[in-house]
Amino acid sequence: MPKDSLSVTDNRTGRSYELPVVDGTIRAVDLRQIKTSEEDFGLMTYDPAFMNTAACRSAITYIDGDKGILRYRGYPIEQLAEHATFLEVAYLLCEGELPTQEQLARWNEEITFHTYVHTNITKFLEGFRYDAHPMGVLLGVVGALSTFYPDAKHIQDPANRYLQRVRLLAKAPTIAAFAFRHSRGLPFVFPDNDLGYIANFVNMTFSIGGRHKPNPVLQRALEILLILHADHEQNCSTSAVRSVGSSHVDPFSAVSAGIAALYGPLHGGANEAVLNMLDEIGDKKEIQSFIQKVKGGSDRLMGFGHRVYKSYDPRAKLIKKVAYDVFNQTGLNPKLEIALELERIALEDEYFIKRKLYPNVDFYSGLIYQAMGYPTEYFTVLFALGRMPGWLAQWEEMLLDKDQKIARPRQIYTGAAERPYIPLERR
Ligand code: CMC
Repeated sequence: MPKDSLSVTDNRTGRSYELPVVDGTIRAVDLRQIKTSEEDFGLMTYDPAFMNTAACRSAITYIDGDKGILRYRGYPIEQLAEHATFLEVAYLLCEGELPTQEQLARWNEEITFHTYVHTNITKFLEGFRYDAHPMGVLLGVVGALSTFYPDAKHIQDPANRYLQRVRLLAKAPTIAAFAFRHSRGLPFVFPDNDLGYIANFVNMTFSIGGRHKPNPVLQRALEILLILHADHEQNCSTSAVRSVGSSHVDPFSAVSAGIAALYGPLHGGANEAVLNMLDEIGDKKEIQSFIQKVKGGSDRLMGFGHRVYKSYDPRAKLIKKVAYDVFNQTGLNPKLEIALELERIALEDEYFIKRKLYPNVDFYSGLIYQAMGYPTEYFTVLFALGRMPGWLAQWEEMLLDKDQKIARPRQIYTGAAERPYIPLERR
């Protein structure tokens, strides 16, 4: 009968140890008993960027990166994207199950009720420069919400946590829309609570003099994109939310750390970077020379590659479909041709095949956002709106997990050994 354990022999001492294997993992702290002497701290693992370390147990999102599978709470992403609303998915992620009709009606109503922000927020939004990057604005304003809701620090109270979840989901589109209006010098449009979540956001961004004509196809496309972004287990921004939240700070501060992480071009900022890259390539004729630069290591093919997916990102497949629905309404985005050709060449090229680099969620999303009328620097804000339920669900799960403590990685010290201070005049 094979045992669920790992036998380890320390060749430095000749001693053997048996470490339990649970869920395909060994506990890193079990290695600490492996010592060369009493004073030895014990064996650690070295895992920069958490390439092979499970930092938590989670029941929220399942990914199989080799097979291209993504499920929220067990439900395939393809089915959710086809049938669910964004708020239904947010409920599923945050509360654990798909809502009943009654639960969904209450959830929609509560989120609608909280869409307004304190008027002082509009005042300090005005303090940002006209060309402030909207992600900088979003992370600043979401962080500042903690000063408007000091009660949010009572994170041990489940009802309080629920209220902050509702507030964050409700206010994020309002703040995002205000950031958009500010960058264009347009007056803020306040929430219209007769509209649904997506329609309200679109109205707050695009309405001028009440003349915005809602396009249901574009609104559903945006909703699908938000659903596809809603969670992605322990990615960089979610890890940031968990890590910062593990200090027991309020959720507005923890989520603003997630927004900061998402801003980076290797994470959510990649959708913006893809459009910049397509602009830089400019013409199909230039694709081959760009690919050569990427293969030479002086550039990256943005929107390609993923830490977890080593096959086609299932979200990218769905987004490609959505792109055609959108372009049917808006006309073809001229950069689509370059993107399709880039994808075709890359998928046949040995460099990308060997490294298992496929299009990720960001490869086509920017083209869609641009066709919808959003400026390039705004794309990551849309990603953040989508990711909000995931951050909140993961934050809650982290707080309730008895195994969790304040996040505090170890290090291998590589600096100087002890040495005496040298007075300034002798240096
Ligand atoms: N273009 C060219 N080469 C690449 C790319 C790329 N986009 N991505 C990875 N590689 C190469 C990399 O140079 C390395 O090659 P070598 O083994 O010869 O040194 C190999 O593939 C492995 O790359 P890595 O950097 O070790 O992989 P990682 O898991 O650390 O990085 C990644 C994942 C997403 C940061 C990376 O693929 C990347 O920078 N992609 C472009 C940015 C991007 O599209 N990000 C969005 C990710 S999906 C949305 C999200 O969740 O944020």
